[in-house]
Amino acid sequence: MSDGYFDEEIASTYDDDHSMSAPDVVDPVVDFLAGLTGAGRSLEFGVGTGRIAIPLLERGMAVAGIDLSNAMVSKLRAKPGGESIPVTIGDFATTRVDGEFDLVYLVYNTIMNLDSQVRQVACFRNASAHLRPGGCFVIEVMVPEIRGLAPDNTRHVWELSESHWGIDEYEVATQRVTSHHLKITQGRTQRFSMPFRYVWPAELDLMAELAGMRLRERWGSWRRDPFTDDSTFHVSVWEKPAGGGSDEQQ
Ligand SMILES: C[S@@+](CC[C@H](N)C(=O)[O-])C[C@H]1O[C@@H](n2cnc3c(N)ncnc32)[C@H](O)[C@@H]1O
Repeated sequence: MSDGYFDEEIASTYDDDHSMSAPDVVDPVVDFLAGLTGAGRSLEFGVGTGRIAIPLLERGMAVAGIDLSNAMVSKLRAKPGGESIPVTIGDFATTRVDGEFDLVYLVYNTIMNLDSQVRQVACFRNASAHLRPGGCFVIEVMVPEIRGLAPDNTRHVWELSESHWGIDEYEVATQRVTSHHLKITQGRTQRFSMPFRYVWPAELDLMAELAGMRLRERWGSWRRDPFTDDSTFHVSVWEKPAGGGSDEQQ
């Protein structure tokens, strides 16, 4: 299986981005997720280098992961504790792992790596299939930024710092967005573009319904700030109803 867009080159500098790995970024995520399930079992879709999984493990949670990139997962395995996280190499839209989980989570816009609505729905069904009744599926994903685009402009510049230029290029007819990056890391310049499918909160709620889950919470931050018109991303929690019975629609 190919590493997809998260190849050796991307994996080699992934953890150097302080804006994602600083304790004041990671700690609220870990507090939120650990607070949902205590010492329960969790499964991370797109576990990557373990940015979130390893701190959760350190909090006493049992964590497993799915990821299609060997390059990213070998970074995780090289970290203290990383070897003890069982990771299955595969596509989180379809790959099943053994066991039942209290929590499945998918953070940092990674639902958008699935490039079609069909595959995003498959991901929700796959999350639901891994959850115990009463378990939760958590997604962190941006609110599409097209509201800020002037007519005829399809490009949103979201980062323009000394070391990183980030430009998203929107195609509204297809809900596709290509994220273009120019980064200087450890004196090296990287240039890459990744395709995504952007998705609205209400559309995600429908996907959850199709997979037999219901929205339980939606926040504008990991610290539970309200989700408002001005939120740039959301943290949403869907619950698989307890009490049995199949409410998954075919
Ligand atoms: C932006 S990184 C996030 C990694 C980690 N969750 C974090 O928060 O740092 C996205 C990860 O998802 C993985 N990924 C993307 N699409 C995937 C898919 N369809 N199936 C499995 N893994 C996927 C990539 O290989 C990469 O490791």
